[in-house]
Amino acid sequence: MAGETRPQNPAGRTAAAGVPGQYNGPGSCSSTSCHGSLTPVNGSRILQNEFSTWVAKDKHSKAYRVLTEDLGVQMARILHLDKGAENSPKCLACHALYVADEKKRAKTFGQSEQEGVSCESCHGPAAGWLGEHTARDWPHDRSVAAGMYDTRDLIKRAEKCLSCHVGSQEKFVDHEMIAAGHPDLLFELDTFSTVMPRHWKEPREKTPGVPERKDPLYGVRDLAVGQAVQLQSALRRLADRARDKGKLWPEYSELQCSACHHSLTNPENSWRQKRGYPGGRPGDPPWNAARYAVFRILVREADPQAEERLTTDLKRLSELMSRVNSDRDAVVAAAGNCAGLAENLAPRMVTWSYDRPRTLRLLQQISADADFIAAQGEGAAAQATMALQSLFTAYNNTSDTKPGNAQELREAIRGLFPLVENPSAYDERQFAVQMRKVNSLLR
Ligand code: HEC
Ligand code: HEC
Ligand code: HEC
Ligand code: HEC
Repeated sequence: MAGETRPQNPAGRTAAAGVPGQYNGPGSCSSTSCHGSLTPVNGSRILQNEFSTWVAKDKHSKAYRVLTEDLGVQMARILHLDKGAENSPKCLACHALYVADEKKRAKTFGQSEQEGVSCESCHGPAAGWLGEHTARDWPHDRSVAAGMYDTRDLIKRAEKCLSCHVGSQEKFVDHEMIAAGHPDLLFELDTFSTVMPRHWKEPREKTPGVPERKDPLYGVRDLAVGQAVQLQSALRRLADRARDKGKLWPEYSELQCSACHHSLTNPENSWRQKRGYPGGRPGDPPWNAARYAVFRILVREADPQAEERLTTDLKRLSELMSRVNSDRDAVVAAAGNCAGLAENLAPRMVTWSYDRPRTLRLLQQISADADFIAAQGEGAAAQATMALQSLFTAYNNTSDTKPGNAQELREAIRGLFPLVENPSAYDERQFAVQMRKVNSLLR
């Protein structure tokens, strides 16, 4: 750890941290009186043990190290990264606090890449606010004005996560990298924020006479906002990929993995041949609509008209993408248009009202959509699985009277996970059957 590179005066307003816009590296946040306490500090507005949580429990702090381990080394060999993955901007872009421009590195930066995805990867360059933000009366807005990234804004927060967890034109995981061993990218804001682990206090409900606790409905809001932003990010990435004629097309990672990666059987045993190939030519790999399959149900509940429009436009995109020789220019236009619709829906999801009956309705509607979701491939099935898990947690925790069959319901949802683990073994009929089981327990 770069524990030696702390600011001169961590609690003062005048620490010479560098000029605004520069990155200091995580060592600058690790002092025990700042964010490096081992346990949460009582009575403090923030927890103050953020650094300890990150370094000990958060995978982001290991993100650089994995580049030097077996899988990272294998990928570097296959992809001909001669200096190793740990020296390749292609990998560092998401696996480290990667600051290519030397002028943006403050004196304390040193070898900060080696500490993985660290504080400023999410919170922005600290030099402009590092000294000042420790003062009690220092307002959050002024930090933001001085270069702090506003992670409190849920849409911005999701965009930040997705810049690495879906990627973009500049930093991406494509099928070539996946074929070399990289995990396929999958994200759901509420699930991933729970796993992360959170190093921040959640807003708490304040009902007189009721002990303060985290409001489980925030999980539903995070799910909904995250779905809107992830659809938007994925569609922008798709449009950029289609636009860049220097890149191979189609980019296989935009398609359903299981369409190409499954074992063949004789016709009697093929559920695909039994089902037929609705909406496409037999043998063409369909588009991966994972990031839309669940979101459309949320939108339908919030605004049926907006859902109709989104569904019509996405259907067109899906038809375009599900052809072997998909027309790149038409894809750019269709994906850009749909990304705009998703972008407009994100703020609606922030201010939408979340309550227990609505959470139950969403659980019912998603599980009732078993056939459609299952047919969109293993990616869509995985999104539905995470969404049901997240909604169930909120539903179960919003009332002191648990549903009578909570245990059965939990088991049924848990039963979805193994069905989406391996794309090659994905069987949409099995997935639909398990979804119907979940649905029957929600009546
Ligand atoms: C667009 C961002 C992005 C880029 C670029 C990227 N990765 Fe990753 N990588 C991720 C994310 C996100 C994960 C975690 C996936 C998950 O668990 O959901 C990951 C996971 C991994 C893992 C698995 C780690 C583990 O804990 O098992 C390895 C190894 C890896 N990446 C290597 C590389 C290499 C090598 C490169 C460059 C060739 C690279 N990555 C480029 C985002 C990226
Ligand atoms: C992967 C992204 C990520 C990384 C890495 C990260 N954070 Fe955070 N942090 C967040 C998010 C998201 C929040 C919650 C939103 C918020 O309250 O701003 C948060 C919240 C916080 C808060 C509470 C802010 C408040 O106003 O309540 C502090 C303090 C904080 N982080 C410090 C750190 C420190 C110190 C590090 C490095 C040791 C770090 N974070 C690393 C994403 C990250
Ligand atoms: C700068 C890129 C970057 C940003 C921003 C980022 N992540 Fe990550 N994240 C990664 C990489 C790379 C990994 C893989 C690390 C590893 O396996 O060692 C990862 C891993 C994770 C994991 C562990 C996944 C697993 O399979 O165990 C979770 C959870 C996670 N990120 C959540 C988030 C959330 C929530 C946010 C936004 C608040 C976020 N990340 C922002 C790059 C990023
Ligand atoms: C259009 C067909 C197609 C699609 C869609 C596709 N792949 Fe592939 N994939 C291939 C081909 C062809 C190879 C090379 C196979 C070989 O050399 O044996 C490959 C290789 C791979 C490999 C390495 C080979 C192995 O079995 O270890 C992995 C892993 C992989 N793909 C994962 C995925 C994932 C995950 C997705 C979805 C995000 C996906 N693929 C989508 C055609 C596809």
